[in-house]
Amino acid sequence: MMTKSHLADLDRRHLIHPVTNFRAHEQKGVTILQSGEGSWLEDSNGNRLLDGFAGLWCVNVGYGQQSVVQAAMEQMQRLPYATGYFSFGSEPAIQLAARLVELSPASLQRVYFSLGGSDAIDAAIRYITHYYNTLGQPQRKHFIALERGYHGSTAVGAGLTGLPAFHYNFDVPRENQHHIPCPYAYRSPVGDDPAALIAESVRQLRSKVEALGADNVAAFFCEPIMGSGGVVVPPAGWLRAMQDTCRELGILMLVDEVITGFGRTGPMFACTDEGVEPDMMTVAKGLTSGYAPMGALLMSEEIYATIADGPGGDRLVGHGQTYSAHPVSAAVGLEVLRLYLEGGMLAQGQAVAPYFSEHLQAMLQHPLVGDARSRGLLGALELVADKRTRAPFDPALKLNERLSRIAYENGIIFRAFADNILGFAPALCFSESEFDFLFERLTLSLDELLEQSDVLRAVT
Ligand SMILES: Cc1ncc(COP(=O)(O)O)c(C=O)c1O
Repeated sequence: MMTKSHLADLDRRHLIHPVTNFRAHEQKGVTILQSGEGSWLEDSNGNRLLDGFAGLWCVNVGYGQQSVVQAAMEQMQRLPYATGYFSFGSEPAIQLAARLVELSPASLQRVYFSLGGSDAIDAAIRYITHYYNTLGQPQRKHFIALERGYHGSTAVGAGLTGLPAFHYNFDVPRENQHHIPCPYAYRSPVGDDPAALIAESVRQLRSKVEALGADNVAAFFCEPIMGSGGVVVPPAGWLRAMQDTCRELGILMLVDEVITGFGRTGPMFACTDEGVEPDMMTVAKGLTSGYAPMGALLMSEEIYATIADGPGGDRLVGHGQTYSAHPVSAAVGLEVLRLYLEGGMLAQGQAVAPYFSEHLQAMLQHPLVGDARSRGLLGALELVADKRTRAPFDPALKLNERLSRIAYENGIIFRAFADNILGFAPALCFSESEFDFLFERLTLSLDELLEQSDVLRAVT
């Protein structure tokens, strides 16, 4: 076996990490994760860590689920690969597509499997473009999404992501990609009144569509809760209002449930909470709980049938990937779905969600915490320098990096975003005592951060 320092050195020299500052990473060095069980991880130094972020908001069933390992192994032994090209297929992929249609909103009838969330979004953009060209409305090329929204990082999809880090030097957004403000209760100019926040989003969408010309707009993309943008939780009824507005304006709606799907916010999909029936939905992460790569784009029969039967219906629909509908990932997905439902994991997540929310709300007592918000097991705390004015900390202090380090030393992992929003997405199997541990160590970590003299000076 290679020594840890040799591995770290090879990593520094060869491995490009996602969404990172290259040189800063080299200086910091890699933290090698070695094993996992339930909600706990162990690193290569033998440290045990409680994972409050389920990997990257994906390991919803927790680590070490042997039935998932078994399902993958059996499929690998039987048939490790089956192409979906040339009308070939595999049993688990067909079954998984049918299960997803059964479990998702009634509007969604057809499934294209991707390898993750970014390429599910990429597939959506391609099929939407094809759909409108087939419909004889080739001028419908404009896409609208939310500021702070995240829709992955493909060459085109990153332009729908509303986060500047994904745009800088990548020549996106393109001229047909637009953003409207998101319903950010804690910092919205219209305040935190739910009705006002909903009305403002509807107004913004209407006015953007009007400015572009309703006949030129293809679709509106949004997450039910903006995850990577800082766990921005819209008021109840917001998603429904956005759907109604899209219908009224005659544009397609895609709901991106890559984070919110599979019990993360309570139900199997967040949009079913409000009876939303989108034209398209993207999923990934919890679909396989991160045990194997897979995502999916679900679409309405109308979109599928238009592409199938419209002019050019006799030609190939040229979208595909070698690993679309991969049988091992699909077998994993089927077993993970069984754990959510028959295994009681979804119910377990719903049962502990109020306990999680109570803990988050209690953190408002801490001098650094200005806001606490959550739905289901997706939550955030926002650190502010001044609770009264909600003034953020100077980014130069790099509090998020310091806090991540302190928290790690205290045995917990969560996401500390650059704007000092702390994101939490525990596995659905988190127990009450694990929540107690997480928040006890979080309080300790925030206390230690506050003891640093420049942080103390910055707090008013
Ligand atoms: C809402 C949303 N869409 C898309 C993606 C991209 O998914 P992936 O990282 O699997 O490509 C993510 C990833 O975090 C996401 O949160």
